[in-house]
Amino acid sequence: MNTKQLAYLDAMDISVWQKRNRQPKSIAMDIETIDPELEGAWKKLELQVKNCTLCELSKTRTQTVFGVGNRQTDLLLIGEAPGASEDAQGEPFVGRAGLLLNEMLKSIGLNRQTTYITNILKCRPPNNRDPLPHEVKLCTPYLNEQITLINPKMIVAVGRIAAQFLLNTDTPIGKMRMQLHHYGEKKIPLVVIYHPAYLLRSPREKAKAYRDMLQIKKILHEI
Ligand code: URA
Repeated sequence: MNTKQLAYLDAMDISVWQKRNRQPKSIAMDIETIDPELEGAWKKLELQVKNCTLCELSKTRTQTVFGVGNRQTDLLLIGEAPGASEDAQGEPFVGRAGLLLNEMLKSIGLNRQTTYITNILKCRPPNNRDPLPHEVKLCTPYLNEQITLINPKMIVAVGRIAAQFLLNTDTPIGKMRMQLHHYGEKKIPLVVIYHPAYLLRSPREKAKAYRDMLQIKKILHEI
C-alpha cells in the first residue's frame, strides 16, 4: 500500500491491518479449470437475479448486487444486504465498510480475488433498513444456489443479521463470534465476525475483530 492510500485510509479513521503471514494454501485460485457446465449454471443464476421481481425491493433498486470474487474459492463471505454504494456500483461491500473488510481480509493474506463475497439480499432495502423476513425468504434460494455452486470449505457470516439468519438463532453476535458453527445439511464450517460498519462505529472492537480474522486463518489451514 502506498503513502497516498495510507493517508486516505487514515483520513477515514481506518487503521491498516498488516499482513503477518503467508496466505493459507487451501485457497483455490486456478481459474484455468472452470467447468463449462458450472459456468452455465452461474450465468443462468446471474440472469435470474438480475431480472428478479419477486419482492418490492426490485422497484427501488438501481441494480441487483450479485456477488464478487473467486467462484472456486474455499472461503465464502456472506453479508446482509447492499447499501447505497453497492446499489450504485453493483458490487457488494464497496463503501467505507467494504474498504475496512478489504483490510480485514488483507490482515490474513486474503483479498476479494481469493474469496467470494455476497449478501443474503441481492437488492438494497430503502434507507438501509433491516431485511424483512419475506424478502429474506424470497431471496434465499439465490444464496443457496451460490453456496451449492461454490461449495466452500468455510463460510464467514459478516455481521449480526447474516449470522442470525444463517444459524437460525437470536443469539447476540458477541456470543457467536470466536466459535466454530456449521451451516446447512453439509455442515459447512461457519465463523461469525463483526460487521465492518459496526467496527467503523466502534473502533475499539477492532482488536477483537482481528482475533476473529486469525481464527478464520487457523481454521482454513486446518480444514
Ligand atoms: N453491508 C452489507 O452487509 N453488505 C454490503 O454489501 C454492504 C454493506
